[in-house]
Amino acid sequence: MRIMGVESSCDETSVAVVENGRDVLYFSVVSSVDFHKRYGGVIPEIASRKHLEFFSPMLEGLIKELDISSIDLIAVCNRPGLIPSLLVGLSFAKAISIACDIPLVAVDHIFSHIYAVMLDSRLKLDFPFVGLVASGGHTSLFLVEGWSYDKVRLLGKTKDDACGEAFDKAAKLLGLGYPGGPVIEKRAEEGCPVYEFKCYKGKDYDFSFSGVKTSLLYFLRKQEKISEEMINDICASYQKSIIDVLVEKTVRAAKEFDAKAIVVGGGVAVNKFLRKMFEQVCACEGIPVFFPERRFCGDNAAMVAGLGYYLWDGEKLKDTISMEALSYSLFGGGR
Ligand code: KG4
Ligand code: ZN
Repeated sequence: MRIMGVESSCDETSVAVVENGRDVLYFSVVSSVDFHKRYGGVIPEIASRKHLEFFSPMLEGLIKELDISSIDLIAVCNRPGLIPSLLVGLSFAKAISIACDIPLVAVDHIFSHIYAVMLDSRLKLDFPFVGLVASGGHTSLFLVEGWSYDKVRLLGKTKDDACGEAFDKAAKLLGLGYPGGPVIEKRAEEGCPVYEFKCYKGKDYDFSFSGVKTSLLYFLRKQEKISEEMINDICASYQKSIIDVLVEKTVRAAKEFDAKAIVVGGGVAVNKFLRKMFEQVCACEGIPVFFPERRFCGDNAAMVAGLGYYLWDGEKLKDTISMEALSYSLFGGGR
């Protein structure tokens, strides 16, 4: 079954075609991040205008490579996300669905970040596994017993900022620009984690990253002068503080629920230190850990198409793919 995926929940516009939930036949993603940089965060109005601009040429690119009549289903991300951005993707997908008489299925963005691990791989993942979504809009922990909504149990999520957002806000405080994750990772590689920035731990599976950001803010206020070396150490310490909590809670959940594996997805999952820490701790605990390919960690349509294969129940166009469903995640988003 050949599925076309459509993703537009934030600042990435993406179209992909995936066969039988696994093989990526076509993949295209463009980010409008450069247009948001000067504001230090994503501006919904700009993001949605860029989606409008990017989708048509993307479709033209797809049609050059694949016959649209070979598409059996369109999977579109309808939640959670920025409403104006979601609306553009949803309207685009609906238009193709109606014009070409192709059925449509709606896909939850957060769940699809976990599914990304299955793309273009022969990975055999046993259920149940614990899935962590670490991105700019979400930090959520799940027990996954199958690829359908009724098989996913939300164990915990962020009570305030998402972990990617914590990286973005710290970079802003340090004057390192937007997005924060990549630059903090780079600076951290040159530094040592000598400072302590307290991050919410708690015995539950919820997260909170507003405290660690405030702890950094107060630290910076106390400094008279900050050298470049000090910034490297601050980045290493701040990154470690966040990642330690992600690893501890995820591994603890995997042990409590007898999970067969751990999967970490979302934009933050490209972070090399995060991968190393998970790999080290999981090796000690004897729990296999898997990450999606780097290109499938950030927002993309291949993960939407892939999960759509499992979510479609054979119906045509459903009422649930409507405005009411927009942005209302089953799993609680950070946006
Ligand atoms: O999944 P994503 O592309 O979009 C959302 O669904 O939010 O994630 C974007 C987030 C941003 O907050 C960005 O700073 C973070 O992922 N990020 C990173 C890295 N690359 C991107 N965080 C830590 N280390 C990185 N290398
Ligand atoms: Zn995302």
